[in-house]
Amino acid sequence: MRHLDIDWAVLRDRAVAAAAHAYAPYSGLRVGAAALCADGSVVVGCNVENASYGLAMCAECTMAGQLRLSGGERFVAVACRSGSGELLMPCGRCRQILYELGGPDCLVDTPRGALPLADVLPDAFGPEHLP
Ligand code: THU
Repeated sequence: MRHLDIDWAVLRDRAVAAAAHAYAPYSGLRVGAAALCADGSVVVGCNVENASYGLAMCAECTMAGQLRLSGGERFVAVACRSGSGELLMPCGRCRQILYELGGPDCLVDTPRGALPLADVLPDAFGPEHLP
């Protein structure tokens, strides 16, 4: 993969902007996600909730769809923010989704700085474990 400069300030801003599009009438928590992709593009997502509460789609999930739709290839670096700009860590399910499409080296914006997914989802189950 060619070297990509990661502009975290841009990713964080894009995540906050994406959160403005969230549909979160039940939790009231607007979430936005933004990722630098391997082709150099940036994709975003927002959470989309449902009256059947458990069916809520996280911002990272809708962003995964955007990665595929845009042809961005792979996630390289991911930032998640609330609509008010607070850093949010991807939930466990979303870490798994990011792992599928970004792998262990994909960087995540965390309270401890940028960390690889291998650190925030250690010993992950992945495609390599399937027969
Ligand atoms: N949420 C996300 O969008 N991403 C996460 O990683 C954690 C949680 C959303 C789901 C739900 O709409 C709201 O936050 C409250 O849980």
